[in-house]
Amino acid sequence: MTDPELNEHNLARRSRGSAFALQGSSQRGSAVTGWGLALPDTVITNDDFAQRLDTSDQWITERTGIKERRWGGTTASLGAEAARRALESAGVTADQLDLVILSTATSDQTVPATSAVIAKDLGYACGTFDLDAACAGFGYSFVVAHSMLATGLERVLVIGCDTLSGITDQQDRSTAVLFADGAAAVVLEAVPGEPCLLGWDLGVDTSAIHLLWCDKGGYIRMEGKETFRKAVRATIDSAVSALEQAKLRADDIALFVPHQANKRIIDAAADRLGIGEDRRAIVLDRTGNTSSASIPLALVDAANAGRLHDGDYVLIAGFGAGMTWASAVIRWGRP
Ligand code: ACO
Repeated sequence: MTDPELNEHNLARRSRGSAFALQGSSQRGSAVTGWGLALPDTVITNDDFAQRLDTSDQWITERTGIKERRWGGTTASLGAEAARRALESAGVTADQLDLVILSTATSDQTVPATSAVIAKDLGYACGTFDLDAACAGFGYSFVVAHSMLATGLERVLVIGCDTLSGITDQQDRSTAVLFADGAAAVVLEAVPGEPCLLGWDLGVDTSAIHLLWCDKGGYIRMEGKETFRKAVRATIDSAVSALEQAKLRADDIALFVPHQANKRIIDAAADRLGIGEDRRAIVLDRTGNTSSASIPLALVDAANAGRLHDGDYVLIAGFGAGMTWASAVIRWGRP
């Protein structure tokens, strides 16, 4: 595939998706100014599964990298808790928000959108909606949030939250050990200076649509091996595309924040990208796969641990059912 010409908006349409670069002084300045996370109290260890399923701590650890995960809460309750912490850390009140996007594939009910239920709890009255791009949803939401800042909004809250324990067949050892519950959120604000989103890449590969599926009221069904293979390829291609849009190299990236589905997927993709272990954000061992929450959980965990500094370049890269993908290069801190 040859690199397509960028049009006047620096938007490139590719045969495998769409990608965008935000460069030039005409773009509005923006920054991630606050972040927070929320995990349920109940810890489920690998040994808990081994007591009732034909599995073991050794198998789960070696094949997935997961040691424990959290179960509990609703998408609204976890999402609200993470959002409240993100707002506190940004020093922003709910009534100052211009838009709230909740990335989730596990809304608590069909209507209303769970973001509206969170609005009732937090007290914001701005525009709000749920966005579902499966596990790639946080990347999609971040890009949408950022584009809304570019049109003139001042403050957008992005929440990634999923409660996958409720749609996982607990008798199916091949999925039960993987999926879990959690939430994390970031506040994006317009600030003087440069935009914080430097390049992005979104897309979908419908040849993988049958690999991961959940009917309404049913449980997740997954062809793990083929999902694994396609996930590594999608993560690498999408990350490379976002880096190209941002005119950066993998060496420039201070922290790689991949979707937390399987440690072997993360390692295969990061190795191919040339990003060493010291530059990878991992929470999978403690959280399992929390879908929309997984990238922001890893991001917030790294920020809370002091691993991010103003001016650092962060590469997020996710894939999900569909198979959707989303990557973005973000400049951390205020410009
Ligand atoms: N404990 C013990 N054995 C198990 C378990 C378990 N928990 N789960 C599966 N097995 C068995 C299988 O039954 C199979 O046995 P068999 O050979 O007798 O048939 C054997 O282990 C090997 O199974 P594979 O599926 O080939 O194992 P693999 O090494 O591929 O690991 C896994 C399975 C962990 C699911 C892996 O394929 C994977 O992570 N795939 C990607 C999953 C993913 O990324 N999903 C998320 C996508 S999007 C989103 O996040 C919603």
